[in-house]
Amino acid sequence: MTKTILGLSGSLRRASFNAGLLRAAAELVPEGTGIEIGSIRDVPLYDGDLEKSSGLPPAVQTLQAQLQAADGVLLVTPEYNNGIPGVFKNAIDWMSRGPGLKMWAGKPVAVIGASPGGFGTMLAQAQWLPVLRTLKADLWADGRLMVSRAGDLFDSDGNLTDTASRDRLAGFMDGFAKAI
Ligand SMILES: Cc1cc2nc3c(=O)[nH]c(=O)nc-3n(C[C@H](O)[C@H](O)[C@H](O)COP(=O)(O)O)c2cc1C
Repeated sequence: MTKTILGLSGSLRRASFNAGLLRAAAELVPEGTGIEIGSIRDVPLYDGDLEKSSGLPPAVQTLQAQLQAADGVLLVTPEYNNGIPGVFKNAIDWMSRGPGLKMWAGKPVAVIGASPGGFGTMLAQAQWLPVLRTLKADLWADGRLMVSRAGDLFDSDGNLTDTASRDRLAGFMDGFAKAI
C-alpha cells in the first residue's frame, strides 16, 4: 500500500531553499511512499473573528483534507531571527482549528530545514517541538537534517544540487518512511 506524506514548506519565496528541499525530498522518498506538496500561500492571517463569521478559509480546508489523508507530515522550516517564521506558524495554527486538532493527534511528523547560515535552522527546528507536543503529534526524532550553507548547495531556482546533501536527505526520508 502506498504511504502518503504531506510536505509543507514554510517559505513563499520563488527560489526558496526550503521549498527546494521539499521538492528534493519528494524525488528521493523510497518506493511505496509519495509526498504530496501542500501550499500555505493562500492561508490568511489567523483572525478569530473571521473564523467565527466564515469558518475555516478554503486554503485551510484544503490543507486539513490533505492532513487527514496523510500517513505522515514533513515540515520544511526556514529560520527567521532564530525562530519559526510567522507565515509557517500561522498556517499550522489555522490547521489546528475545528476538526484539525484531532487530525494532528498521533500523526507522525518530521522536521527539516535549510538556511544560508552555519546552523541550518537548528533553532527553528527546536521551536517546533513544543508546538508538536501541544498538537499531540508523533514527532519522528530518529533522524536530523539541518542543511547549512544553503547558498552553496542549491541552484538559482532553489533546486538542491549538492550530491552529499541529497544522499543525506534520501537517508532521512528512508528512515521516516519506514517509521510511518
Ligand atoms: C526576517 C529574517 C530573519 C532571518 N533570520 C535568520 C536566522 O535567525 N537564522 C538563519 O539561519 N537565517 C535567517 N534568515 C535567513 C534565511 O535563512 C534565508 O532568508 C533563507 O533563504 C530563508 O529560507 P528560504 O530560502 O526557504 O526562503 C533570516 C531571514 C529573514 C527574512
